[in-house]
Amino acid sequence: MAQSTGPKKIKCAVFISGTGTNLKSLIQFSKKKNSPISINLIISDNSKAKGLKFGKIYKISNKVFNYKNKIIAEKKMISEIKNKNIKFICLAGFMKILSKKFIRNFDGKILNIHPSLLPKYKGLNTHQRAISNGEKYSGCTVHFVNSKLDSGKIILQKKIKISKRDTAKSLAKKILAQEHKLYPKAIRKVFNL
Ligand code: GAR
Repeated sequence: MAQSTGPKKIKCAVFISGTGTNLKSLIQFSKKKNSPISINLIISDNSKAKGLKFGKIYKISNKVFNYKNKIIAEKKMISEIKNKNIKFICLAGFMKILSKKFIRNFDGKILNIHPSLLPKYKGLNTHQRAISNGEKYSGCTVHFVNSKLDSGKIILQKKIKISKRDTAKSLAKKILAQEHKLYPKAIRKVFNL
Protein backbone atom coordinates (compact mmCIF):
# COMPACT_ATOMS: atom_id res chain seq x y z
CA MET A 1 0.00 0.00 0.00
CA ALA A 2 1.27 3.42 -0.89
CA GLN A 3 1.70 5.58 2.19
CA SER A 4 0.46 9.14 2.29
CA THR A 5 3.91 10.17 3.48
CA GLY A 6 4.84 12.62 0.74
CA PRO A 7 8.53 13.37 0.32
CA LYS A 8 8.14 16.90 1.57
CA LYS A 9 6.59 16.03 4.91
CA ILE A 10 8.67 16.58 8.03
CA LYS A 11 9.36 13.34 9.84
CA CYS A 12 8.01 13.30 13.37
CA ALA A 13 8.14 11.10 16.44
CA VAL A 14 5.25 11.12 18.92
CA PHE A 15 5.97 10.32 22.57
CA ILE A 16 3.21 8.77 24.67
CA SER A 17 2.74 7.15 28.08
CA GLY A 18 -0.94 6.22 28.08
CA THR A 19 -4.12 6.03 26.05
CA GLY A 20 -2.80 7.82 23.00
CA THR A 21 -5.93 9.59 21.82
CA ASN A 22 -3.84 12.63 20.87
CA LEU A 23 -1.47 10.29 19.04
CA LYS A 24 -4.42 8.93 17.06
CA SER A 25 -5.60 12.40 16.12
CA LEU A 26 -2.06 13.39 15.09
CA ILE A 27 -1.72 10.27 12.93
CA GLN A 28 -5.01 11.05 11.20
CA PHE A 29 -3.88 14.64 10.68
CA SER A 30 -0.50 13.53 9.31
CA LYS A 31 -2.21 11.46 6.64
CA LYS A 32 -3.93 14.47 5.13
CA LYS A 33 -2.36 15.51 1.88
CA ASN A 34 -1.67 19.04 3.04
CA SER A 35 -0.33 18.10 6.47
CA PRO A 36 3.23 19.33 7.04
CA ILE A 37 4.21 16.23 9.01
CA SER A 38 4.45 12.47 8.76
CA ILE A 39 4.64 10.29 11.84
CA ASN A 40 7.41 7.75 11.53
CA LEU A 41 8.03 6.70 15.10
CA ILE A 42 6.08 6.25 18.32
CA ILE A 43 8.09 6.30 21.54
CA SER A 44 6.87 5.28 24.97
CA ASP A 45 8.33 4.86 28.42
CA ASN A 46 5.55 2.39 29.22
CA SER A 47 5.24 -0.99 27.54
CA LYS A 48 1.60 -1.15 28.69
CA ALA A 49 0.59 2.17 27.12
CA LYS A 50 -2.71 1.56 25.36
CA GLY A 51 -1.74 4.02 22.65
CA LEU A 52 0.95 1.64 21.39
CA LYS A 53 -1.83 -0.18 19.54
CA PHE A 54 -2.01 2.73 17.10
CA GLY A 55 1.48 1.82 15.94
CA LYS A 56 0.18 -1.58 14.89
CA ILE A 57 -3.04 -0.25 13.41
CA TYR A 58 -1.30 2.41 11.31
CA LYS A 59 1.94 0.47 10.72
CA ILE A 60 4.22 2.96 12.43
CA SER A 61 7.23 1.67 14.34
CA ASN A 62 6.88 1.60 18.11
CA LYS A 63 9.74 1.73 20.54
CA VAL A 64 9.51 1.37 24.30
CA PHE A 65 12.40 2.65 26.39
CA ASN A 66 12.95 1.52 29.94
CA TYR A 67 13.11 4.60 32.12
CA LYS A 68 14.62 2.78 35.09
CA ASN A 69 17.79 4.39 33.84
CA LYS A 70 16.76 7.71 32.33
CA ILE A 71 20.24 8.59 31.05
CA ILE A 72 20.54 5.37 29.07
CA ALA A 73 16.91 5.55 27.91
CA GLU A 74 17.41 9.06 26.55
CA LYS A 75 20.70 8.15 24.85
CA LYS A 76 18.97 5.31 23.05
CA MET A 77 16.03 7.52 22.18
CA ILE A 78 18.30 10.16 20.67
CA SER A 79 20.09 7.65 18.48
CA GLU A 80 16.83 6.03 17.38
CA ILE A 81 15.40 9.43 16.43
CA LYS A 82 18.54 10.50 14.58
CA ASN A 83 18.88 7.14 12.78
CA LYS A 84 15.36 7.51 11.48
CA ASN A 85 16.13 11.04 10.33
CA ILE A 86 13.33 12.43 12.46
CA LYS A 87 13.29 16.20 12.69
CA PHE A 88 10.39 16.99 14.99
CA ILE A 89 8.94 15.60 18.22
CA CYS A 90 5.38 15.84 19.56
CA LEU A 91 4.82 14.94 23.19
CA ALA A 92 1.28 13.63 23.56
CA GLY A 93 0.57 12.54 27.10
CA PHE A 94 4.22 11.67 27.71
CA MET A 95 4.52 11.71 31.49
CA LYS A 96 8.31 11.77 31.88
CA ILE A 97 10.37 14.93 32.08
CA LEU A 98 13.00 15.18 29.37
CA SER A 99 16.48 16.20 30.46
CA LYS A 100 18.10 19.48 29.43
CA LYS A 101 20.56 17.46 27.37
CA PHE A 102 17.80 15.73 25.44
CA ILE A 103 16.01 19.00 24.80
CA ARG A 104 19.24 20.66 23.63
CA ASN A 105 19.55 17.96 20.96
CA PHE A 106 16.23 19.03 19.47
CA ASP A 107 16.16 22.68 20.37
CA GLY A 108 12.96 24.36 19.15
CA LYS A 109 11.80 21.09 17.62
CA ILE A 110 9.74 19.63 20.48
CA LEU A 111 6.08 20.45 21.11
CA ASN A 112 3.90 19.44 24.03
CA ILE A 113 0.18 19.52 24.73
CA HIS A 114 -0.87 20.31 28.27
CA PRO A 115 -4.38 20.13 29.74
CA SER A 116 -4.63 23.62 31.25
CA LEU A 117 -4.44 27.24 30.25
CA LEU A 118 -0.72 27.68 30.86
CA PRO A 119 0.96 29.36 32.70
CA LYS A 120 -1.76 28.23 35.10
CA TYR A 121 -1.66 24.67 36.44
CA LYS A 122 1.66 23.34 35.25
CA GLY A 123 2.36 19.72 36.18
CA LEU A 124 -0.13 17.06 37.17
CA ASN A 125 -3.75 16.89 38.33
CA THR A 126 -4.65 20.05 36.43
CA HIS A 127 -8.42 19.55 36.22
CA GLN A 128 -8.97 18.92 39.92
CA ARG A 129 -6.80 21.88 40.84
CA ALA A 130 -8.70 24.19 38.46
CA ILE A 131 -12.07 23.05 39.86
CA SER A 132 -10.93 23.27 43.50
CA ASN A 133 -9.72 26.82 42.91
CA GLY A 134 -13.15 27.81 41.58
CA GLU A 135 -11.87 28.64 38.10
CA LYS A 136 -14.57 29.51 35.59
CA TYR A 137 -12.46 28.41 32.65
CA SER A 138 -9.80 25.88 31.88
CA GLY A 139 -8.53 24.49 28.60
CA CYS A 140 -5.48 23.20 26.82
CA THR A 141 -2.23 24.60 25.53
CA VAL A 142 0.25 23.56 22.85
CA HIS A 143 3.71 24.95 23.53
CA PHE A 144 7.36 24.53 22.63
CA VAL A 145 9.32 22.48 25.14
CA ASN A 146 12.17 24.17 26.93
CA SER A 147 14.17 23.08 29.95
CA LYS A 148 11.54 24.30 32.45
CA LEU A 149 8.42 22.16 32.95
CA ASP A 150 5.41 23.35 30.92
CA SER A 151 7.03 26.76 30.45
CA GLY A 152 8.08 27.04 26.79
CA LYS A 153 6.63 29.52 24.32
CA ILE A 154 2.89 29.09 23.85
CA ILE A 155 1.71 28.35 20.30
CA LEU A 156 -2.05 28.02 20.76
CA GLN A 157 -4.61 27.66 23.51
CA LYS A 158 -8.26 26.68 23.65
CA LYS A 159 -10.41 27.96 26.49
CA ILE A 160 -13.24 25.79 27.86
CA LYS A 161 -15.95 26.84 30.31
CA ILE A 162 -16.06 24.87 33.55
CA SER A 163 -19.65 24.19 34.50
CA LYS A 164 -20.80 23.94 38.11
CA ARG A 165 -21.47 20.26 37.61
CA ASP A 166 -18.04 19.44 36.18
CA THR A 167 -15.87 16.88 37.92
CA ALA A 168 -12.20 16.37 37.12
CA LYS A 169 -13.29 13.46 34.94
CA SER A 170 -15.96 15.31 32.95
CA LEU A 171 -13.68 18.31 32.49
CA ALA A 172 -10.82 16.08 31.32
CA LYS A 173 -13.13 14.56 28.72
CA LYS A 174 -14.29 17.94 27.41
CA ILE A 175 -10.76 19.26 27.23
CA LEU A 176 -9.36 16.13 25.60
CA ALA A 177 -11.86 16.47 22.75
CA GLN A 178 -10.53 20.00 22.17
CA GLU A 179 -6.91 18.84 22.41
CA HIS A 180 -7.50 16.62 19.40
CA LYS A 181 -8.33 19.71 17.33
CA LEU A 182 -5.82 22.08 18.88
CA TYR A 183 -2.66 20.01 18.34
CA PRO A 184 -2.98 19.75 14.54
CA LYS A 185 -3.87 23.46 14.37
CA ALA A 186 -0.77 24.35 16.39
CA ILE A 187 1.42 22.22 14.12
CA ARG A 188 0.06 24.02 11.07
CA LYS A 189 0.85 27.31 12.80
CA VAL A 190 4.43 26.25 13.55
CA PHE A 191 4.95 25.42 9.87
CA ASN A 192 3.08 28.52 8.65
CA LEU A 193 0.36 26.54 6.92
C1 GAR B 1 -3.89 14.63 27.62
O1 GAR B 1 -4.93 15.27 28.29
C2 GAR B 1 -2.64 15.48 27.67
O2 GAR B 1 -2.88 16.85 27.56
C3 GAR B 1 -2.10 15.12 29.02
O3 GAR B 1 -2.30 13.74 29.14
C4 GAR B 1 -3.44 13.37 28.37
C5 GAR B 1 -3.04 12.26 27.42
O4 GAR B 1 -4.16 11.72 26.77
N1 GAR B 1 -0.72 15.49 29.13
C6 GAR B 1 -0.14 15.85 30.26
O5 GAR B 1 -0.74 15.92 31.32
C7 GAR B 1 1.31 16.18 30.13
N2 GAR B 1 1.82 16.73 31.35
P1 GAR B 1 -3.96 10.78 25.50
O6 GAR B 1 -2.92 9.72 25.90
O7 GAR B 1 -5.32 10.16 25.29
O8 GAR B 1 -3.51 11.63 24.36
